[in-house]
Amino acid sequence: RASTHISALPQEVMVRLFRYLGPEDLCRCSQVCHTWAELVKTGSLWRHLYPVRWARGDYYRGPPGDPDQDPDAEDWVQNLQEEGRAYQEWDEDADIDESEEACEDSLAISAVRKEKKLLNGMIQNLLPAVGSSVRTLSLAYSAAVSSKMVRQILSLCPNLIHLDLTQTDVTDSAFESWAELGVCRTLEHLDLSGCEKLTDYTLQSLSLGLGDLTTPRFSKNSPECKNKLLKTPPSAIKLLDKHSSYSLGRARTALVFKWRPGGRSMSCSPVWVLDPVELADIEDAANWTRREGVAGHSEGRGGILGMQAGGKSCCCRRSTRRSFRTDISSTYLQQLYGTLGEMQCGHSACCASDTALRTLKGAQCEPQATGCSSEFWTKCPSEGESRTDQTGACRALRFLSLSGCYQITDMGLRCLSKGGGLPLLEHLNLSGCLFITEVGLHELVSVCPSLNDEHFYYCDNINGPHADRASGCQNLQCGFRVCCRSGE
Ligand code: FES
Repeated sequence: RASTHISALPQEVMVRLFRYLGPEDLCRCSQVCHTWAELVKTGSLWRHLYPVRWARGDYYRGPPGDPDQDPDAEDWVQNLQEEGRAYQEWDEDADIDESEEACEDSLAISAVRKEKKLLNGMIQNLLPAVGSSVRTLSLAYSAAVSSKMVRQILSLCPNLIHLDLTQTDVTDSAFESWAELGVCRTLEHLDLSGCEKLTDYTLQSLSLGLGDLTTPRFSKNSPECKNKLLKTPPSAIKLLDKHSSYSLGRARTALVFKWRPGGRSMSCSPVWVLDPVELADIEDAANWTRREGVAGHSEGRGGILGMQAGGKSCCCRRSTRRSFRTDISSTYLQQLYGTLGEMQCGHSACCASDTALRTLKGAQCEPQATGCSSEFWTKCPSEGESRTDQTGACRALRFLSLSGCYQITDMGLRCLSKGGGLPLLEHLNLSGCLFITEVGLHELVSVCPSLNDEHFYYCDNINGPHADRASGCQNLQCGFRVCCRSGE
């Protein structure tokens, strides 16, 4: 009787089998043969990424928020913080200390080093192939991640829905790709709690990346575009052309613009618009096709993730009763607005015009002669390449936490207010944001009609919107996040 070898199974069946495996086992599989190495790089296998957990042996890879799967929060966070401290104090060139304490430190340091290796492996080997399929990325409490790494990851993962960077050391530069490419339109959950280095630039980038609901991307009556619109159900749609695929989340209308060889203008030409119930198989098939002809190679030791298979005064005056604010406010504001070329504080009442915001670096804007102008054009592609107009701007953000991001000002809040506000935002945490005022809060809240007062947090010292119903500052008892009443 003839036996059937596993290699005879169709690719679709193999991928279904791979869905039962965790990231560590997938890495092992990627080392079996060239074919498996390519199959493991299938987008639907890598929807939800938790590299911090994976580096510590917890290989959960389901959607976020599963209470049965979440690690024990308090102990987990405490361990990660201790590891981070040990890693930061670690001196690679120091003499070896064999004391018990040093032994514990060395375990902590090796965990962070493993995490760093894992992140580098993802960036170099995995995300270039599956980045467009990634929906969730959690890097909360990572001591290994840098701004450069986050910048690379965000560039490779344009369709993220859930991003958690809680208590990481990232700076504004991590989000540059959002401002330049406009690629966070699907983002619904953004947790930047404890990212103390972030400033208004990040909110500017975020707002640009989310898109603009107030400026029509193109005229529906434009003769060139009139017959090119494809209506789709409000479910996810998928655009595929022979070069790329791009998910537009809940977009209802889709166009693909193609450069005419030798011409300066574009023609609107939809390629394939699919309305699948299950997109994964179609996307996987497209990925496999794209990879055809490319010499496959099994990954080296460690698999695709590198995992061992195993100057002037402010333009307004503020109360200075909060000691923390008085210590840092004038220097910080001078640096920030000096950098921006403005000496305005960003308080809405003081900056009546939009001038201050417009001095910030914006997205590349290249209006074209087609009647289909766009504010978010990416850099000019080479001839023959197609580019997708991301008409699906829906500013879908539902959760935003800036708790402890004390450098945020009213100007940053105003950036978020622009472009149609945040119509779906339900949860907003501004605890520990010392520089915001009631004016900035009112302006933002006025364009957040879905905001749930129970999930609206800001400093107790501000008499802001919904003051009687909103929750107070969450950082009073926190101990490691900025709060104007710390130590009281
Ligand atoms: Fe003011 Fe916490 S920031 S009470």
